Amino acid sequence: MSQNILVTGGAGYIGSHTVLQLLLSGYRAVVVDNLDNSSSVAISRVKELAGEHASNLDFHKIDLRDKPALEKLFASMKFYAVIHFAGLKAVGESVQKPLMYYDNNITGTIILLEVMVAHGCKNLVFSSSATVYGSPKEVPCTEELPLSALNPYGRTKLYIEEICRDVHQSDPEWKIILLRYFNPVGAHPSGHIGEDPCGIPNNLMPFVQQVAVGRLPSLKVFGNDYKTKDGTGVRDYIHVIDLADGHIAAVKKLADPSVGCEVYNLGTGKGTSVLEMVTAFEKVSGKKIPLVMAARRPGDAEIVYAANGKAERELKWMAKYGIEEMCRDQWNWASKNPYGYEKSA
Ligand code: NAD
Ligand code: WQD
Repeated sequence: MSQNILVTGGAGYIGSHTVLQLLLSGYRAVVVDNLDNSSSVAISRVKELAGEHASNLDFHKIDLRDKPALEKLFASMKFYAVIHFAGLKAVGESVQKPLMYYDNNITGTIILLEVMVAHGCKNLVFSSSATVYGSPKEVPCTEELPLSALNPYGRTKLYIEEICRDVHQSDPEWKIILLRYFNPVGAHPSGHIGEDPCGIPNNLMPFVQQVAVGRLPSLKVFGNDYKTKDGTGVRDYIHVIDLADGHIAAVKKLADPSVGCEVYNLGTGKGTSVLEMVTAFEKVSGKKIPLVMAARRPGDAEIVYAANGKAERELKWMAKYGIEEMCRDQWNWASKNPYGYEKSA
């Protein structure tokens, strides 16, 4: 019989791709999302893409902080595990509204863990981030590097990781996998689901995509005086489908009796500069991205990329896609849905 997986934030960018991969791998997925930063159209599209597996997906519009609603859901069925994506993620906004971030991300997580334990579900996969390495003193970032946070958003990830370690320490029946994502980009190759940020995008590729479809005039390159190959910042971009598959590997790993509270980087292990990324996107889209050189963005690290050996050894997972495929699929999604979910054909 297929296992029920609860996916918080499953209507969002990474969540929707993961839900699809879960369904295609034979799991039943129950999504909880308040749709604050997503659209229910994403859920309908996932169902379309899932074909014969579509009936294995249920959606509930619930805010994680609504404990009675979460209690009711857990009382109605048994979950094998929870994949916990739900959270706010805009770094700049978190500096302006720290209490909103602490309340949403941390309170939401505490309530989720309380309800899980009350209903005997102690298997968790959590969306952490490479942001917990702060400005790393060395690269590649191994899971053992010292942790720090540069902003309230990053601190929510760091604190939730610590909460998970304490929860596991207090009750070793918990099995927790903390996944530190590097820079997720791209979209499902069908072009039917992808990232649809509200307002002006903060991240590089959603911004590039909006320039390509004519919604924004040019891309500001934040700093071209870094000590990198071409002076621009270097990151580890990872295709969202690879990332989604990393979650399937993590859910499978939960069955391993040796799992306690484990942490894994999900990255490709390769660093790519802003200019390399733009050039790759221009090549696959045939669109020129006008650039404006600008000052460094405060708080930005120079070079960040993952050591991916631990995930490869222990999760038997490795990224399959390269930069060209990431840009191809980002463009396919953008050209089919230039205004995202709500206004697309
Ligand atoms: P997203 O905003 O597209 O998805 C998050 C989803 O959670 C949204 O659908 C939102 O409506 C929902 N949500 C937020 N607060 C909620 C609440 N209190 N109750 C119920 N639903 C709630 O973001 P994403 O890019 O898919 O990121 C998913 C997770 O991965 C987040 O936790 C994020 O911090 C983490 N992460 C993202 C990145 C990235 O660059 N995208 C990198 C590292 C980690
Ligand atoms: C990538 C590169 C920018 C926008 C952020 C969060 C991190 C994680 C992933 C969630 C950098 C440059 C960007 C632009 C640019 N999210 N850039 N012009 O900063 O690595 O990480 O997203 O956990 O927490 O901080 O990603 O996509 O914003 O930037 O030149 O308009 O692109 O300076 O070098 P980042 P990003």
